[in-house]
Amino acid sequence: MKKITHAVIPVAGFGTRMLPLSKSVPKELLPLGNRPAIHYVVEEAIAAGIKHIVLVGHAQKSAIENYFDINAELDNQLRQKGKNELADSLNWLPDDVTVSMIRQGKPLGLGHAVLAARPIIGTNDFAVLLPDVVLDPFTTDMAADNLAFMIDRFASDGHSQILVDKVADEDVHKYGIAQLNEALSDASDLADKTDMNVSFKVSGFVEKPNLAQAPSRLAVVGRYVFSHHIFDYLANTKASVGGEIQLTDAIDALISQYGVNVTTMRGNSYDAGDMRSYLQAFMYFAQQQLVDEE
Ligand code: G1P
Repeated sequence: MKKITHAVIPVAGFGTRMLPLSKSVPKELLPLGNRPAIHYVVEEAIAAGIKHIVLVGHAQKSAIENYFDINAELDNQLRQKGKNELADSLNWLPDDVTVSMIRQGKPLGLGHAVLAARPIIGTNDFAVLLPDVVLDPFTTDMAADNLAFMIDRFASDGHSQILVDKVADEDVHKYGIAQLNEALSDASDLADKTDMNVSFKVSGFVEKPNLAQAPSRLAVVGRYVFSHHIFDYLANTKASVGGEIQLTDAIDALISQYGVNVTTMRGNSYDAGDMRSYLQAFMYFAQQQLVDEE
């Protein structure tokens, strides 16, 4: 099977949990240390072998597309002043990587945002990275290794892959939660293994359940590898939780027709879409970079 080189990054959310910071700056461009949050997510995708990145946004998000483009005027100015190194550091995107943007139209949910990328992705299989979630890029290469592992697994068995991590009881209502096969009911113990990715079949997902309804403690982290068939299911998915077209509903439909696996995450993730955890993540990223500079 052809190795995945396409990725979709939905950036259409209004970021209401990040107000007032996100009132005039897209939440994806808020800093984590010395880079905008989405910079790390794009770096992670590229390190995992992605070459074509499709951002799905709307009119107020064009600053994100500009961030990944060359600003010729700024580049000229810097070079005229002899600041070539600084100019080079701004053009960090490799030549063989493209970043394009498509608009979602109506804000009908995450599933609808992914479907909006279909005209560009076509019949290519692809990854999805949710930019609210930033995987720790400092400790090791583990951040990108997760996606690279999922891409390899997909290439070998053709099963779509969903990255999951164990969450505390009080957090299950914030996430899509995996339902495991009977035989794998003790599989969440595998998620405790932080030194390796473990991949196994999943029987379904429940989007943002309350604790009593949660089928496990394995939460969808925000990294997916999909067969392009997911588009057909998304096109037929009706609005559900929160009145939105949910990606998890289309995944459930995909499971019944094709196998879908969950992959346990290595390393730590940070939620940059929620004020409290964003502030914690900011301090962590800034601290790591200050140490690196010393
Ligand atoms: C989305 C997904 C959810 C996933 C979460 C990860 O929810 O619908 O399944 O667990 O991202 O951050 P959102 O946070 O966009 O409401």
